[in-house]
Amino acid sequence: MQAYHEIYSEAQQDPEGFWLEQAKRLDWFTPPTTAAAVKKNGLADWFPDGQINVSYLALDAQVNAGRGDQDALIYDSPVTDRVEKYSYQQLKDEVAKFAGVIQSMGVEKGDRVIIYMPMIPQAAIAMLACARIGAIHSVVFGGFAAHELAIRIDDAEPAMLLTASCGIEGNKTLAYKPIVDRALAEAEKPPQNVIVFQREQQLAELQQGRDHDWQQLMEGAEPVDAVPVAATHPLYILYTSGTTGRPKGVVRDHGGYAVALNFSMNYVYGLQPGDVFFTASDVGWVVGHSYIVYGPLIFGCSSILYEGKPINTPDAGAFWRVVEQHKVTAIFSAPTAFRAIKKEDPQAEHLKRYDISSLQRVYMAGERLDPATYEWTTEVTGLPVYDHWWQTESGWPMCANPVGVGATPVKPGSSSLPVPGYEVTVLDTTGKQLGANEEGSICVRLPLPPGCLPTVWGDEQRLQDSYLKAFPGYYCSGDGGYIDDEGYVFIMGRTDDVINVAGHRLSTGEMEEILAAHPAVAECAVVGTPDDLKGELPIGLVILKNEVDIDPQQLQDELVQRIRGEIGAIACLKTLYVVPKLPKTRSGKILRRLIRQLLQREDVAIPSTIDDSNSIEAIQACIEEQSKASQ
Ligand code: COA
Ligand code: AMP
Repeated sequence: MQAYHEIYSEAQQDPEGFWLEQAKRLDWFTPPTTAAAVKKNGLADWFPDGQINVSYLALDAQVNAGRGDQDALIYDSPVTDRVEKYSYQQLKDEVAKFAGVIQSMGVEKGDRVIIYMPMIPQAAIAMLACARIGAIHSVVFGGFAAHELAIRIDDAEPAMLLTASCGIEGNKTLAYKPIVDRALAEAEKPPQNVIVFQREQQLAELQQGRDHDWQQLMEGAEPVDAVPVAATHPLYILYTSGTTGRPKGVVRDHGGYAVALNFSMNYVYGLQPGDVFFTASDVGWVVGHSYIVYGPLIFGCSSILYEGKPINTPDAGAFWRVVEQHKVTAIFSAPTAFRAIKKEDPQAEHLKRYDISSLQRVYMAGERLDPATYEWTTEVTGLPVYDHWWQTESGWPMCANPVGVGATPVKPGSSSLPVPGYEVTVLDTTGKQLGANEEGSICVRLPLPPGCLPTVWGDEQRLQDSYLKAFPGYYCSGDGGYIDDEGYVFIMGRTDDVINVAGHRLSTGEMEEILAAHPAVAECAVVGTPDDLKGELPIGLVILKNEVDIDPQQLQDELVQRIRGEIGAIACLKTLYVVPKLPKTRSGKILRRLIRQLLQREDVAIPSTIDDSNSIEAIQACIEEQSKASQ
């Protein structure tokens, strides 16, 4: 604990000195002389006079340091039965050539490029190529449907879109190109050019003039060098769910992000250059950006890019097989992945088939690590298992066990201690700081450390309204929880309408907007309910318009289809109930907590603000009747 307290206080008392020291570990074009320029809104511009390039750090700097022959990226794809290794030199060559391709097609510094790709090396190559020329990438998770892609296209206004012909989900081959075509047709500001990586599993039809073949373009490509950009130059935009149907474009810079990730690779993950890091996530999420692509490469590790699932590809031993085959040092995934393994293989029989002696630690994030999953994973692996808490907005962990400077005891249910640079605190609704063990809103005192969002793309007001307005002087995380008397942080769940389904952050508000657009629906509410495997699952309550006469099963099918068609299958909204009324306060606010209690058959605490307490029994009866009918 002593080392932790020392380093934490150092960052708190002298942030300027602390972060400039961390910055020295990277290869700058122009080293910064100032760490932070604090802005009017309380956030900071990090290293404002430094010049850097993240693609250079991840590739050229590693080759220059003698790691040219070391594996940079290990693509492990059980779904195509393929393993491909890219050394740092090879990855640099591929990225430099692809950067040449997009530059020759007119992409310039500051232009946006949408990347809608499955978990193939070309996704990482595309990201690093954009960064190399100062273009701003925006990766859209391949599980999102055309409408979601179109929303992001219209917000980012990209010069180009990069995609692949198909993705492979377990035993399903999913054509990507028709989704892209639909999104481009729906978007008001579609890009002029689309580059398609053709996968042999399913080729895509290309539209003359607009669509181009990745492999053909690479044949004649000229490599380009990384351009120096200001440390504050945007590296990417990553859209994340908020409370409405319009996702927020979280912006990330080059310099602050690189410094933060480099620091975290040892401080949080206890890794050394040359170690093998296996982050089983997707490049479409922040975890994939930070710990499949940028963090491991900037730090000189070998990173696994895994195109598979924790189970069924081919079995619940998939992760352990990867660990043995590539001598993985640390693994990181969402608790839901380990719950899936535990469900399939409770006795961890598969694990016994593999030699996982290279593995030193297991990390989980993306949702709360429930004590049962923590205990099971600890028991079957015999290794330390660490929960850590962060968000798309932070870009790197806000609370974690300080493994690199000396691990502290683990408390199941807690994501451990605030990371240096984050002054995490718990506030009540009036903004008063709460004491130990008192539950409230988890906030971080401004300014935030390097790596965190400097803004929301094109919408400074949204930055203010979503994160900074509720508690002046603090960043409001949207999570609730408490800090115990030893400073351990316990994140208990969202305080807004965001839910977490299988580690995927989704907006119930957006689902409501989609359901409400159905011609039969007068009003609706979607809430998250606990699920043993996925953490949470959405359930919808709908009120029909008066004159509507529709078969309940048909309505259910249509609504489920709408959600799948507009958000994507990952939304997992499969259960809906038709009710006569929604429980509301007298001012018209939907009582979501009460709905959750009704759905979980808990004792209902009826608030005094309710507009019509008599409606509760009728709603309850409808839920019971319809859930019996569906069994
Ligand atoms: N592209 C297209 N579709 C996708 C997709 C992708 N990248 N990812 C998921 N889907 C689809 C699935 O095919 C499935 O479709 P279906 O309803 O037609 O069968 C649906 O979305 C739900 O998928 P998922 O939530 O993955 O459920 P599952 O039952 O297939 O698998 C788990 C369950 C737990 C194995 C899986 O959710 C998992 O691996 N979770 C870990 C998530 C993770 O790593 N999150 C990262 C945050 S750190
Ligand atoms: P995302 O931005 O998609 O990474 O999702 C961030 C959200 O996931 C957070 O605001 C939390 O609600 C949740 N989350 C992430 N990590 C944890 C964790 N370790 N414990 C509890 N919740 C978490």
